[in-house]
Amino acid sequence: MNTIAASSISAQRVKQVWQREIARFNDLHPESLRQHRLASQHFLYGVPLHWMQDWPSPSPLFLKEAQGSRVSCVDGLEYDDFCLGDTGAMFGHTPAPLSAMLAETARTGLTAMLPSAKTVAVGERLAQMFGLPFWQLATTASDANRFVIRWARAITGRSKVLVFDGCYHGTVDDTLVDLVNGKTTARDSLLGQVYDLTQHSVSVPFNDIAAVRQALAQGDVALVLTEPALTNCGMVLPQPGFLEELAAACRQHGTLLALDETHTLSTAWGGYTRAWGLNPDFLVAGKAIAGGVPCAVYGFTAEIARGMRAAKQAAAPGHSGIGTTLSGSQLAMQALAVTLEQVITPAAYEHAIGVANGLAQGLEEMIHSHGLPWSVTRLGARLELQFCTCAPVTAAQAAAAENAELTATLHLGLLNRGTLLTPFHNMMLAGPATGHGQVARLLANMAEMLTELGA
Ligand SMILES: Cc1ncc(COP(=O)(O)O)c(C=O)c1O
Repeated sequence: MNTIAASSISAQRVKQVWQREIARFNDLHPESLRQHRLASQHFLYGVPLHWMQDWPSPSPLFLKEAQGSRVSCVDGLEYDDFCLGDTGAMFGHTPAPLSAMLAETARTGLTAMLPSAKTVAVGERLAQMFGLPFWQLATTASDANRFVIRWARAITGRSKVLVFDGCYHGTVDDTLVDLVNGKTTARDSLLGQVYDLTQHSVSVPFNDIAAVRQALAQGDVALVLTEPALTNCGMVLPQPGFLEELAAACRQHGTLLALDETHTLSTAWGGYTRAWGLNPDFLVAGKAIAGGVPCAVYGFTAEIARGMRAAKQAAAPGHSGIGTTLSGSQLAMQALAVTLEQVITPAAYEHAIGVANGLAQGLEEMIHSHGLPWSVTRLGARLELQFCTCAPVTAAQAAAAENAELTATLHLGLLNRGTLLTPFHNMMLAGPATGHGQVARLLANMAEMLTELGA
């Protein structure tokens, strides 16, 4: 019998449960299905962003409302939301201080291409939170990463970017490479990619300091861009000392280091960087940093700021290729101010991490009692259920533990029972509004699904 990851779950059983859950979804969601059909007349795949078709259900839920840690759909059903907008709503949907600010900013102006009254306070708060003195704004984390890469190339005069196998930093061409049989290659899923990404990008395995050193020794790498822990290929935590050795190797070879904290902000107030006392040249945070209002930030050291000024001065006047019109708008600045002051607080983390502790413990007990060869990996309020006994050390190990059919079936079954997980792998995120009751429901729904699957 074809079984999954050496567990007692058969592929045949997964298929049967999948069919049942599809039928159940169709019974429960006539209005989402109807709106999806209608939307298909004017939106590609019937959705405004084509990834929204990646949900495991026959149509995505069409949202009615999202509040705190709950969402409801147009069929009048409610869900405990552990996806939280795939991190965009990590600190809860529409926190009250943000709602009040939005009403006020709608009255006082959204964008004027001018710094606004909150600029000074936001700069101080970002510096205090992340320990870097200088900041710039972008509209998305993808943009922030793109801009950091450009600055790093401009400062160092080098062309290459080193990223880790399994990384995701947004729609940034330079980072969309994989490591295949030891060679950097462009991802074969890319659309419209015409130039050779391997000319200026290098991919090496995460947690492999020898491979990093070897790549940096060529002397042509401008920037290493990484999440402190990989969160987009399942979850891969850094081995003890790896990030410190990475920083030392960068310093030794004149390469700059950027930490993308867009997801790892879940670790603690000030992100993984503050929690572990790291000293990157750049730090990027997007998605939830302004409470879900489109905004991202990138911070840098005084030395980098000097390098930026020198590069700008040395260049001809005109377009820098860095920045977009709505970056740093009054709307983004107000949203950042209120979110940093009143939403992303140490107390919010204390609650969210406490809830995530309970969830991790409950999942681990369930895995143990069913004798499943699975594990739970944690980064503060964010956790990942992986179909392997030990936490993976590289993206290749994380990928080997994936099972798309089982993941989709679990997700659809949970959705049909009122628990929403992010459609990509098995990430679960607790926020400041997530309750212990929601965790208890997730665990009960998961237990029911395991019984269905014969685990
Ligand atoms: C670590 C990381 N950085 C950057 C991004 C890009 O964010 P956005 O799609 O908001 O530009 C993502 C998106 O998932 C991400 O996971």
